[in-house]
Amino acid sequence: MRKRVRKAVFPVAGLGTRFLPATKANPKEMLPVVDKPLVQYAAEEAIAAGIEVLVFITGRNKRAIPDHFDKAYELEVELEQRGKQQQLEMVQNILPKGVTCVYIRQSEALGLGHAVLCAEAVIGDEPFAVILADDLISNDDGANCLQQMVAQYDAHGGSVVGVQRVPYEHTDRYGIVSVEDMQQRLGRLKGIVEKPAPDKAPSNLGVVGRYILSPAIFRILKNVKPGAGGEIQLTDAIAELLAVEPVFAYEFEGQRYDCGDKLGYLQATVEFALKHPELGEAFAEYLSSFSKQLKAVV
Ligand code: G1P
Repeated sequence: MRKRVRKAVFPVAGLGTRFLPATKANPKEMLPVVDKPLVQYAAEEAIAAGIEVLVFITGRNKRAIPDHFDKAYELEVELEQRGKQQQLEMVQNILPKGVTCVYIRQSEALGLGHAVLCAEAVIGDEPFAVILADDLISNDDGANCLQQMVAQYDAHGGSVVGVQRVPYEHTDRYGIVSVEDMQQRLGRLKGIVEKPAPDKAPSNLGVVGRYILSPAIFRILKNVKPGAGGEIQLTDAIAELLAVEPVFAYEFEGQRYDCGDKLGYLQATVEFALKHPELGEAFAEYLSSFSKQLKAVV
């Protein structure tokens, strides 16, 4: 019997330098897209995919994350006294019952691979997911990205990395994979390299922030040497893993927004606002009249 994927690691210790000054004192994962912080979208995706233990790898200036998932006594009392039942339920139901949060401090920013290694004691000997909250992925018409990947893991085992086609001129922003025989969105990984220059990239299939990893990755991460940017790269450990265990690339269905980047964040904000049940209609009207003004200028 294959072990079920029950735990997810959220590396949230990054400095968010692409989003300064907003991220000087606030975690980038707390940036809201419309009315919900990125980290909550990520947690909801994980929970819908069957995850029961959320493991946050945090750092300095990240206290807002545990606070967000904790009980907010004063706020709840206030909302109750003012009869704001709907908002009260909203803040009380951020996490469903039966979901546990674990927080681990990564005191030095040594890279994504190091952040994942920090979770070893909590993960133990089972497969687990890794979610990078600044990659926001929506799939309005079907299973969310992690659900799709868990289904692939349940069917094939091994490890699974979520990939999408990226413009060739952007290969130096991603882990890039080479894949053997992609069929029905799934292919066995032959190689993976961190942020290659476009002329060195083995393909334009870029890894986005979703992984299902075998616990064998921990042993490798302990010995992996610093790679691109002098950091302990998860990509380098996956490159070693695929020599000893099957690793698959899965081209997920859905739209991914790079919310660690200002333009990607704005695109997510506009598109999520248009889909928002309370705001959508009014925002669409505004956007449509604003785009007429814009056409007059551009
Ligand atoms: C990290 C990974 C990279 C991956 C990317 C997805 O890079 O190292 O392999 O493609 O996330 O967002 P970062 O964006 O943290 O530099």
